[in-house]
Amino acid sequence: MTERVIHNQWSSRLAFMLAATGSAVGLGNIWKFPYITGEYGGGAFVLVYLVCIALIGIPVMMAEILLGRRARANPIDAFRSQAEAEGRSRAWGGVGLMGVFAGFVILSFYSVVAGWALAYVFEALSGAFDGLDGETSGALFGALTGSPQRLLFWHTVFMLLTVAVVARGVRSGLERLVTLLMPLLLVLLALLVGYAMAAGEFARGFHYLFDVDFSRVFLQCGDDGACTFTAEPLLAAMGHAFFTLSLGMGAIMVYGSYMPREASIAGSTVMIAIADTLVALMAGLAIFPLVFANGLEPGAGPGLVFVSLPIAFGAMPGGQLVGVLFFLLLVFAAWSSSISVMEPGVAWLSENGHLSRGRASLILGGLAWLLGIGAALSFNLWSGEDYQLFGKTLFDLEDFLASNVLLPLGGLFITLFVGWVVRRRGSEDELAMHSPRLFGLWYFVIRYVAPAGIVLVFLNAIGVV
Ligand code: PHE
Repeated sequence: MTERVIHNQWSSRLAFMLAATGSAVGLGNIWKFPYITGEYGGGAFVLVYLVCIALIGIPVMMAEILLGRRARANPIDAFRSQAEAEGRSRAWGGVGLMGVFAGFVILSFYSVVAGWALAYVFEALSGAFDGLDGETSGALFGALTGSPQRLLFWHTVFMLLTVAVVARGVRSGLERLVTLLMPLLLVLLALLVGYAMAAGEFARGFHYLFDVDFSRVFLQCGDDGACTFTAEPLLAAMGHAFFTLSLGMGAIMVYGSYMPREASIAGSTVMIAIADTLVALMAGLAIFPLVFANGLEPGAGPGLVFVSLPIAFGAMPGGQLVGVLFFLLLVFAAWSSSISVMEPGVAWLSENGHLSRGRASLILGGLAWLLGIGAALSFNLWSGEDYQLFGKTLFDLEDFLASNVLLPLGGLFITLFVGWVVRRRGSEDELAMHSPRLFGLWYFVIRYVAPAGIVLVFLNAIGVV
């Protein structure tokens, strides 16, 4: 296998951990997890999501990191060179290309939502949260999403922020940014959970998140009381497991390629997954008690976090400062994620010597910005049925395509590649796990369990199983 020299490396294992956690923890945890949990009806959805994290997410993350670190190259070249080394077709590089495409779709709508968070930093600063209730908070959010100008402005600002960091390169740009902010975000979330305990309907929120009632999630009942099984929550839970851990598109793979050899892949993976899950559950525990206490609808959709939390900020002592800090940290969490969404494509374009990092990130960011305009307009000018497909707006379609189709599909190919193309010995050496038993277990999951699980969920979603 040809070693590549272009590659830069993280300064330490800790730097890798922070960057990978920065990639994983983002809008997926704080914005998307609560809102889709609300849409799909609570506890049973959460349980399925947790099972997907453990059974598919963790093994796939290990596979991605090992592929990246072994090849020391961007995902496309990593697939190509390792396929070649095993005497297989370079067409495997297509999996990397699909990941670059997925990243471009994700970035387009991600930047719009991160733009909401940016806008809310200034809303908080201006004192707009003071004395909000369910209705006025909804109106404040509606005024933002109803304005194409404001959405496009903040979308543009966020995209520029992302491009600016990616253009400078991961080492100089990113490491420093994340080091300080992740722990601060955790502290703030803990504070919000505490507030929800004191002022919200905590028990109800807790039960909503953790009481498993499959019929509420997987049965769709009409007015006549007739119920049918729906597979969509299953696909959404699996898709979100990929999304929240940044899997299936090469983001973690490319970060893995910058990882020092001596660091433990399995150990790092488990820690990242735990941190990511913790943040999501804490966000849920902060938000649902407030949702219930203020008469909001858990299934209200993408605005859930932006409507519920400002009510708390408007009522708690020191809430203005806490509100500013919270949305600022949310922006940083989103930023450290969006950077990683772009990295596979930028690494690929620049490592092949055709483009500088700066040019590559401008081009990719520009394209995602264009597609993101459609996502922004989905909340106002293009919200009507005329602009929908299968009852979904462009925003919903982008999210669905990326999270529920492209990421799991990419994940499927990754499991097949590591389970059936790369020789067992190669993976064993790279993972260097202490226990052969544990390695055997992981290998079994990557070879059989995870791919079968992904295929089953896909077949289920299209009504075959
Ligand atoms: N994991 C990020 C989040 O939860 C989103 C992401 C998806 C980042 C895919 C990189 C790749 O917000």
